[in-house]
Amino acid sequence: MVHGFISSWRRVFSETKCSLRRGQFGRRRCFSLVAHKAELDKNNVDSVPKLPPFDYSPPPYTGPSAVDILSKRKEYLSPSMFYFYQKPLNVVDGRMQYLFDENGRRYLDAFGGIATLSCGHCHPDVVDAIVNQTKRLQHSTILYLNNAIADFAEALANKLPGNLKVVFFTNSGTEANELAMMIARLYTGCHDIISLRNAYHGNAAGTMGATAQSNWKFNVIQSGVHHAINPDPYRGVFGSEGEKYAKDVQDLIQFGTSGNIAGFISEAIQGVGGIIELAPGYMPAVYSTIKKAGGLCIADEVQDGFARTGSHFWGFENHGVVPDIVTMAKGIGNGIPLGAVVTTPEIAEVLTRRSYFNTFGGNPV
Ligand SMILES: Cc1ncc(COP(=O)(O)O)c(C=O)c1O
Repeated sequence: MVHGFISSWRRVFSETKCSLRRGQFGRRRCFSLVAHKAELDKNNVDSVPKLPPFDYSPPPYTGPSAVDILSKRKEYLSPSMFYFYQKPLNVVDGRMQYLFDENGRRYLDAFGGIATLSCGHCHPDVVDAIVNQTKRLQHSTILYLNNAIADFAEALANKLPGNLKVVFFTNSGTEANELAMMIARLYTGCHDIISLRNAYHGNAAGTMGATAQSNWKFNVIQSGVHHAINPDPYRGVFGSEGEKYAKDVQDLIQFGTSGNIAGFISEAIQGVGGIIELAPGYMPAVYSTIKKAGGLCIADEVQDGFARTGSHFWGFENHGVVPDIVTMAKGIGNGIPLGAVVTTPEIAEVLTRRSYFNTFGGNPV
């Protein structure tokens, strides 16, 4: 599941290359990989950086080669599945921050499964917890009691501010955002949702509507989402003046909706969009505008949650706001397909109007 963050990453990387090409004192610094390698070759320097020692060697690999896997993949898997590098890596082992290919060569994994492995590969504590639970009970359903789901929900709720105390587990970030958008629509009785240009929130019917990057949008019905100007402090029209961008949301509500909306969804740092922090002052201003229009504020913490911003556990905390609904995935499961929606008891009530069920959400493993 390598999401093609490729285009965004490619864009960020090539822009970084351009902006860094000349050093502070006018000395030419070259960040082109090809030129860098040529420079090293000229000076007879080994172009592969040495990794620090590490006390783990994977067992010998005896499975099929990268070439065989690629040809089988081309025959039997969807042609939409793309891969990195002309000669894609056959990754066969992982341990903490490192990956190992079929020849036992070690790589530093700076990508972490697209910001998913918050505790590293095969962390012994995570592996032990999975193995112990799997041996005891691998699957049940929420129709019976089990302490794992209740304990985890309690632990999660204790990490969230305000009255964000009710958890619904899902299988993925897409599913969490689909559910959050539906909850906002049910709670408010409105359909219109505001999202940001350059956002990625998933690829199912509703979330593809909230996603706003053309390479992730198929031309199928995606109703009821308006995309506001992105408060991009680096390239945005108003630079880092967050409140000016928030005015666009006010205009969207006034001119593009009935005046009442279901909600607003955003990340605090756009992940797939190229690691773009929202301009300072934007989130408090926009949250207040949304509340005045009767909407709920949804914070998508799929990429920037679980302490990934360093100073705070949740990305939105960097902006001093408290959302009505928080969605999460990726880092929550460290590689296990797991997502969650957390909201207040009052908002969560809307799901009791009908039956809402998820086979794997809340699985004890
Ligand atoms: C911010 C954000 N939201 C939602 C999603 C969708 O998550 P998933 O791929 O688990 O459906 C992603 C995926 O990359 C994401 O980055």
